[in-house]
Amino acid sequence: LKVPQLLCEISPHKKLYNIITPRYNNMIFIVGGAGYIGSHVNKLLSNEGYKTLILDNLSKGHEEFVKWGKFIKGDLKDKRLLARIFKEYDINAVMHFAALTDVRESIQDPGSYYKNNVKNTLNLLDAMRENVKKFIFSSTCAVYGNPLEIPITEDHPCNPISPYGRSKLMIENILEDYSRAYDFNYVSLRYFNAAGADPQTEIGEWHEPETHLIPIILDAAIGKRENVQIFGTDYPTPDGTCIRDYIHVMDLANAHYKALRLLEEDKSEIFNLGNGNGFSVKEIIETCKEITGEKIHTIESKKRPGDPPILIGSSKKAKRILRWRPEFADIKDIIETAWEWHQKLNRETI
Ligand code: UFG
Repeated sequence: LKVPQLLCEISPHKKLYNIITPRYNNMIFIVGGAGYIGSHVNKLLSNEGYKTLILDNLSKGHEEFVKWGKFIKGDLKDKRLLARIFKEYDINAVMHFAALTDVRESIQDPGSYYKNNVKNTLNLLDAMRENVKKFIFSSTCAVYGNPLEIPITEDHPCNPISPYGRSKLMIENILEDYSRAYDFNYVSLRYFNAAGADPQTEIGEWHEPETHLIPIILDAAIGKRENVQIFGTDYPTPDGTCIRDYIHVMDLANAHYKALRLLEEDKSEIFNLGNGNGFSVKEIIETCKEITGEKIHTIESKKRPGDPPILIGSSKKAKRILRWRPEFADIKDIIETAWEWHQKLNRETI
């Protein structure tokens, strides 16, 4: 008897292969669910009673973060694996988080960004489109480029200034064509700066190497690095440093839950997800000092390529249509959850 691999698992007691008929139906397929945002979405959906199936190649994600649902280690390059997954599991909706996200790296090595973020997403869409009619895409405010107006609304022109932003915009364009031709609906969520961690500190932000501002500052607070570099101090902003709109990862997760409900209504939409407040790099460093009570040494460095001076989003559309509202609207609450998680991570990994 030839047993399809995905329908097998080794019984821990008998050490025998057991044939398992698909136990799950109506699953949410979370691609990149071992990563920072995907794992928080998995937690929230699982707590809401959804059955989840996680695919992750663990190049950036952590298996320890897949605490809910069923896990398959695999890559979007593997078209045969994708075909098998869509054949064998009853998938109701796909959420796609698996992407490279470092703006600077994308300028140095655009090839990896177009392969990972565009080509691999096409593999996913092609495997999915016959079977599944709901798709949620992790997009980014990097699709806008240098903003002409603040706060940025969804109808602001898209002129990305990095291959990363361009790779995400390419997928948004593909989604528009695919959804029309192949008859499915999608929601594209343009995240501003994701930050913070699960308030129960089960999961959080863990990138290796770390490039994001808040965890880098917290590394300095904990003594893991000597200083924080401030990339650019002569931007056209009040204190000369870049301004960003930080949005809590659980608020992002909640927007995915609401987007799923919208897709039940047979609609495609694009939404910004931000808090609508901007904080400069220097302000974030000051807030981290206050919350951690630690000294944080800084060094003024040259600008990082691909960084727009100010990014602040208007999320009015998400509030109106999704009835979504950030619960962590205060930057201190966001950084407090990040700090709790950061201390736990460092206790466990050092
Ligand atoms: N920064 C520093 N020093 C550091 C790290 C960052 O000064 O050591 C600055 C950056 O120059 C930027 C700000 O802090 O001005 C925030 O930087 P992050 O790297 O934390 O975040 P980005 O704004 O570059 O990128 C994030 C996501 C991207 C997304 C982008 C949209 O990681 O996926 O927001 O702006 F596209």
